[in-house]
Amino acid sequence: MTLIAPTSPFLIDLCHGLRPDFQWGAATSAAQIEGASATDGKGPSIWDRFCADPGRINDGSNIDIACDHYNRFESDVALIAGLGLDAYRFSIAWPRVQPTGEGPWNEAGFAFYDRLIDALLEAGIRPHVTLYHWDLPLALHLRIGGWTSPGIVPLFADYAREVAHRFGDRVASIATLNEPWCVATLGYETAQFAPGQTSRATAALVSHHLMMAHGAAIKAMRGVCKTPLGVVLNHTPAFAAEPLEADRRAARIDDGLNVRWYMDPIFRGSYPADILEYLGADAPTVVPEDLALIQQPLDFLGVNFYTRNFISTQQPPKVAPGKQGFTDMGWEIYPEALTQHLVRISREYSPPPIFITENGMANADHVVGGRVPDQERIHYLSEHLAAMARAVDLGVDVRGYFYWSLFDNFEWNSGYTKRFGLFHVDYATQTRLAKDSAHWYRNFIADFKSRRTQPLAR
Ligand code: FCB
Repeated sequence: MTLIAPTSPFLIDLCHGLRPDFQWGAATSAAQIEGASATDGKGPSIWDRFCADPGRINDGSNIDIACDHYNRFESDVALIAGLGLDAYRFSIAWPRVQPTGEGPWNEAGFAFYDRLIDALLEAGIRPHVTLYHWDLPLALHLRIGGWTSPGIVPLFADYAREVAHRFGDRVASIATLNEPWCVATLGYETAQFAPGQTSRATAALVSHHLMMAHGAAIKAMRGVCKTPLGVVLNHTPAFAAEPLEADRRAARIDDGLNVRWYMDPIFRGSYPADILEYLGADAPTVVPEDLALIQQPLDFLGVNFYTRNFISTQQPPKVAPGKQGFTDMGWEIYPEALTQHLVRISREYSPPPIFITENGMANADHVVGGRVPDQERIHYLSEHLAAMARAVDLGVDVRGYFYWSLFDNFEWNSGYTKRFGLFHVDYATQTRLAKDSAHWYRNFIADFKSRRTQPLAR
């Protein structure tokens, strides 16, 4: 298929409504890029253990080295700066700074993030920190059952307070959790992610503990820093495959499980009644104090958007049309859902300012003559920037956009088989190579900043 990206002037024109201080960035997470999994006192995480379990990771790989970012962060920051990015979103590995998830802090671990934050600031890049991007200290999982135990709530708040105390004055934002839906559902119900459990009731309990830990962490951090605080949620809107009552109902449940189960307690102080009913005996026991803890005022909402869910109840199920194709993950490319969804959540929840904290595609990239011609990614990126800009025109307050991901990296249970990066990584040599999409993104940002708006031939 030939994919033609809108020209940059067209897109720049479409982005006229974005704030002049709009932040352009890229995102990563600790477990996916750092490597150094047992270096300088880092404790193991549930992902170190999960990788060691045969059959869990598609290519049998692990995160011992990943992109070796721990040892290469200085040159990596130079690559970020070279793209002209304003902002960089990364996560702190909890077991690097507190090896067992409770008790003593690991100063060598904090020193790494200290150096990273300094390097970013020196390069003029705003650091956006996420506290939990899935690498739970293994010791906490083994001792108390990790997220299945309410005992994790005060421990996560202690960790959050310490990070806020140490780095709050230098970072641009702190998000508590990344995608709690993935943590709970993929980790405890479908076993695709660590720790690999298979109980719907456990997953529902975990999701409630995640929400409580989020609230407790926000409260703890408010006491020690003035940094903007928020949370990063999955936003995969559900579409009924056909105008059938059964499809509509199923789509509503899917939306409830993915979106409303997390947005409602945070912004409305309640769990959605239809999902409580759907879960029945598997629903967690919730008391009013829990909901009051969860509903903390936030300074921003992080929206991760990749695709839509296409819900069919027919046999065989209807498959998504994929008019713009599918990514290498098999995810349908459907950018208009981003516009619709941003408008919807703004109307329904009146959230604080939004950051698109992740958006990107896996593509079967190849190095060809020293280049990576990833036209598909340029198309995906430009279509989603256009979709975001349309939402802004419709009144949604979006303050920044982070492409997922800066580098090709460890894509969880897919191992190293899926490439999401702006930079291609040759894992044998750790060579980073800017893909065509990285050059495109750099040029786009430069054009946006110089507000080049040549007359358009439409
Ligand atoms: C998101 C995760 C991120 C990455 C992308 C592809 O769900 O937050 O770590 O794996 O998907």
